[in-house]
Amino acid sequence: MAQSPNPSATKTIAVVGAGTMGGGIAQELVRHGFAVLLRDVSREVLDRAAERISRGLAHEVEKGRLKDSDRQQALARLRITIDWTELGRADFAIETVTEKFDMKALALQTLERQCRPEAIFASNTSSISITRLAATTNRPKQVVGMHFFNPVPVMKLVEVISGLETSPATLQAAEALARSLGKTTVRANDFPGFVSNRVLMPMINEAIFALMEGVAEARGIDEVMKQGMNHPMGPLELADFIGLDVCLDIMKVLYEGFRDSKYRPCPLLEKMVAAGRLGRKSGRGFYEYSPG
Ligand code: CAA
Repeated sequence: MAQSPNPSATKTIAVVGAGTMGGGIAQELVRHGFAVLLRDVSREVLDRAAERISRGLAHEVEKGRLKDSDRQQALARLRITIDWTELGRADFAIETVTEKFDMKALALQTLERQCRPEAIFASNTSSISITRLAATTNRPKQVVGMHFFNPVPVMKLVEVISGLETSPATLQAAEALARSLGKTTVRANDFPGFVSNRVLMPMINEAIFALMEGVAEARGIDEVMKQGMNHPMGPLELADFIGLDVCLDIMKVLYEGFRDSKYRPCPLLEKMVAAGRLGRKSGRGFYEYSPG
């Protein structure tokens, strides 16, 4: 059934970072009636993201979930830019830059120099402390975690994370935004990995230990979880999909955050990342992938 854009949405949202997550979030935002300023460092990255968004919206039309006229209007609401100053128009910003504390803190601080004092900043971090990120800004009450899942247009959940200083109004604004994209929200408090990655990543890490110790081949481990537990992807396939570097970064946040050896990253995971076997994006992880 065709779905009209949100008629009450007049907001402009800045999305910082035009990778898989930033592009997916931008797609959902324009599709649901928001004006989006998508910012990244390079034109090439932005052009690729705009192309993916265009293809994603065309797919929605093919499936009869979006009218072609709405697709065109959605694309007209997308603006790509390398210029931070353009983001000053945004009411709400979502950062989706690389999963490193310093890079995310820098993105938030740069946004703060551009945006109005009342603008809210959300981080799409998958494990970094919202409290720590918020403390690097002068508006910690207006900083919140909005953890989307890949592929963003398909996955229903947004995990909404409250930092120690996040105000109830900010939390509600993040939840309302997620809901206006048709997403379900679950609130989590600010502990390493929140709920999602505290549960998911140790499972993936354990699957890598099982592979390293020769319990079964990669395909066997994945089949057990797919056929035996009805998971849509096995843990090793999923690790390749997420990116092994991202999995390793998240395991390190868990290990350092809890100082508990049960979160020790598997040495095979460390070795694969060191070798540049990062999963789908590099063409090789636990499996091999053809380009594109
Ligand atoms: N982008 C957009 N849409 C995609 C997509 C992508 N990369 N991959 C698949 N889809 C869409 C397809 O177009 C299709 O949509 P339609 O029904 O409208 O045609 C739908 O998803 C199903 O796709 P397929 O039939 O091709 O394949 P599938 O049934 O095997 O599903 C999948 C693919 C949705 C990715 C499924 O395997 C799945 O749910 N896997 C688990 C994904 C997951 O766990 N994601 C969370 C990762 S963790 C994370 O993101 C956050 C973190 O902190 C690490």
